[in-house]
Amino acid sequence: MEIRWLGHSAFALESDGVTVLVDPFLTGNPKAAVSADEVAADAILLTHGHADHVGDTVSIASRTGAPVVAITELAAELRGDLPDGHQVVDPNIGGTATFDWGSARLVPAWHTSTTPKGTVNTPAGLVIEIGGVRIYHLGDTALFSDLSLPGARDRIDVALVCVGGHFTMDPRDAVMAAELIRADRIVPCHYGTFPQIDVDVEAFKREVEAEGHAEVRVLDPGESLPC
Ligand code: NI
Ligand code: MN
Repeated sequence: MEIRWLGHSAFALESDGVTVLVDPFLTGNPKAAVSADEVAADAILLTHGHADHVGDTVSIASRTGAPVVAITELAAELRGDLPDGHQVVDPNIGGTATFDWGSARLVPAWHTSTTPKGTVNTPAGLVIEIGGVRIYHLGDTALFSDLSLPGARDRIDVALVCVGGHFTMDPRDAVMAAELIRADRIVPCHYGTFPQIDVDVEAFKREVEAEGHAEVRVLDPGESLPC
């Protein structure tokens, strides 16, 4: 099992020949590690409907046939954009989508979301189980105390944590989030893509590790974390 950062909030979770994409914003992403017309996908999971998260979902799903998981209002919009009969799984917050490779559960995130087409949708985090590893992708969120709940329910192996500020929590809030999440390892994301979200990620790593909240693995776009 490997977690590959594709830049921004996009990740490829690779296990036993299965590739699960999260938030595949590649076209127009200055940090994209792969292109939308070459990336593999056996499933696509979305945290919310902002363009920097939905990204290339429709083109990748159409090319690969990969099922898409998104909260119900966003799922309904995507169903209309995908070929007839394409599998779109539409849980709400608290719901779980289950596949042969594992599962993804939607959990709360504190953010807003309207798609470019105008569909209002509630943002989510994702708790993903694949290859015996539990991954908590926080989506876009501010700091809030219920970030502790997924880790209170089940041990989190790796948390994918937005740290860039402006659109989400900033590094200082993310240090507090790290204490709440209680993951073994944290991979920071949603920073450095645009000038507004340039942050000192090494300082974030030092502070989280000095406080003993988690090991922080700073990845370069395209780099993989073996789990
Ligand atoms: Ni967003
Ligand atoms: Mn975003």
